[in-house]
Amino acid sequence: MKFPYTEKVLEHFKNPRNVGKMENPDGKGLEGSPACGDMVAVYLQVNPDTQVIEDIKFESYGCASNIATASIITELAKGKTVEEAKKISWQEATEELGGLPPVKAHCSVLAVEGLRAAIRDYEEKHGLVSEQEPTTVDVIRSRLKHVMNPMAGLDIIRTELVTKMEINDGVVRILIDLPSNHQFAANIKEEVTEKLESLWDVNEVNVVFTE
Ligand code: FES
Repeated sequence: MKFPYTEKVLEHFKNPRNVGKMENPDGKGLEGSPACGDMVAVYLQVNPDTQVIEDIKFESYGCASNIATASIITELAKGKTVEEAKKISWQEATEELGGLPPVKAHCSVLAVEGLRAAIRDYEEKHGLVSEQEPTTVDVIRSRLKHVMNPMAGLDIIRTELVTKMEINDGVVRILIDLPSNHQFAANIKEEVTEKLESLWDVNEVNVVFTE
């Protein structure tokens, strides 16, 4: 059987560039694909004076197309400013790889979303977000759509693991329909907190389990 992948896709899949975790990144993005439930994490190190991405790493829990696209994206983003890197599109990454089967487009979208999430995290943590919309329950909901329910491979909103979301005076309260001693409780709490605490007007995140 002939694989429907270009030589370059296979090469990046077999020898991915910039793969791994980064300790103390300036920005970190974790995105899940609604199409397949796979995930990608992107880590950035940014020069605060020039805004140039000096180092970038990724971890992929996705397929060969996702690994190859994430790999090429790190090559495209390294050495660019944050503003330039924001413009990298999944189409550009796909072209750079010599094409991907159409059914695999969502895998490259996932890689690009991982990069954009890491840039957004960097900007939020460094006070660089210009339009500061107040955080509402809708904003919280859209953030939590990027936290996976490890038991289902889909996000915690779609799988109705979140039963209540509130924000009052900068204090967020999230109710999760799981016992606090559940094997994934600590992990979910950490990811929920990470997704919400970088919002500019959020001072405290309380994740409450059902018992
Ligand atoms: Fe999930 Fe490719 S099938 S990332």
